Amino acid sequence: MTRFPVHFEPLSPEQLADPYPLYAKLRREAPVFYDEAHDLWVVTRYDDVLAVVRDTETFSSENAVRASVKPLPQPVLDVLATGWPLTPTLTDSDGKVHKRLRLLVSKAFTPKRIAAMEGQIRETVDALIDEFVDDGRADIIEKFAWNLPMFAITDILNVPREDVPALHRWSVSWLRIMQATDSVEELVVHAEDVVAMQRYFVNALEARVDQEGDDFMSNLLGARVADGEPLKLEEAMRVLVNLIIAGHVTVTRSIGNGLTTLLAHPDQLQVVLHDPTLIQAMAEEILRYESPAQGLFRTVRKDSVLNGVEIPAGARLMVHWASANRDEKAFDNPDTFDVTRESMATHVAFGRGIHTCLGAPLARLQLKIALPRLFERLPNLRVVVGEDTAVRDTIFFARGFKKLEIEWDVTDALTV
Ligand code: HEM
Repeated sequence: MTRFPVHFEPLSPEQLADPYPLYAKLRREAPVFYDEAHDLWVVTRYDDVLAVVRDTETFSSENAVRASVKPLPQPVLDVLATGWPLTPTLTDSDGKVHKRLRLLVSKAFTPKRIAAMEGQIRETVDALIDEFVDDGRADIIEKFAWNLPMFAITDILNVPREDVPALHRWSVSWLRIMQATDSVEELVVHAEDVVAMQRYFVNALEARVDQEGDDFMSNLLGARVADGEPLKLEEAMRVLVNLIIAGHVTVTRSIGNGLTTLLAHPDQLQVVLHDPTLIQAMAEEILRYESPAQGLFRTVRKDSVLNGVEIPAGARLMVHWASANRDEKAFDNPDTFDVTRESMATHVAFGRGIHTCLGAPLARLQLKIALPRLFERLPNLRVVVGEDTAVRDTIFFARGFKKLEIEWDVTDALTV
């Protein structure tokens, strides 16, 4: 077992501010690191991360989004028991169960459906900016960064936009349950939200049973594959919950991370604004440089050896996408933000292997449209200087802002 004097605490103020020096130290000196405090093996090198996600028999996706698998407190379990089991979903299933789910969901969540969203996403971006463009100042997370991906995914799912605030609140509660660090009282409220979200989608799906609809939920219920049963209503509900949550919290973070990264590198921002052919590369580089999903989890099925380190069966392991994306063996000058780098497509911000992000094309489309448009419509955009204007969210495995106050120059030309 590697013992190494490092304090791995993603929620500490220092690591929330800048975790990258720690990742570099781990990659150099303890690439497969056992963190006693969290009872977690942290895998930080690019090649090791790939080795783990490719060996799905040894490294199971069970509890892939749970930092700790300690049982939840009984009052929380009691509330959750009034709903439906939280798993299996795409993200935390293995083998045949995952394959069937992924095939069925892919029948409805098609590249064609995503590509058709472009015009709608452009309209949503402008409509959201219209709401605050005259104000000269806004919390861009609240006013834009979570609304955009929520509208994008709920438009695909054909969910009324007035339900979006509730869906957002329920999604945040779901993440807090996965993290399980809040007080029991708070977790009970989050559990009630999770059950409310389940009920919401069960009702929406029930309304579509035996109907000849052609929207996403109807397609999902109607999806068939050669060697598998169609989705049961409860399974389809879990897919929808999974898509709503995975589909927005990550994009929200990348918008905030993208803005702050571009503002911290004005030369790179100018390069992109003067050469739109670099917009795709900009999106990839933001995802590499400041990965919204810093790492996710695997459960070790059998005694194994990873990069010379023995890991026992039953252990929990964190595959660290963000560290892999800064690995000097995989990227030249990994700590340099460079929108012209050649190896951009090799980043692992969307994961890799059978669980590779299903929504990557949708996420990319939103980033490519939203970020340049914000700079175009909000002249001299900058982060407000002051205390508490840029507040990071406190989710163990994610990196992004809960609040990000920006300001810009308001001129008469903006209001016409
Ligand atoms: C920048 C935005 C996003 C990032 C960084 C991101 C990141 C990831 C990562 C790292 C995984 C792999 C999980 C693992 O291996 O355990 C994943 C899976 C997944 N993502 Fe995303 N994601 C983003 C956006 C989206 C969007 C927009 C959607 C849907 C609308 C989505 C839906 C999913 C789903 C359903 C999975 C599970 C796939 C499977 O297990 O087969 N994601 N995502």
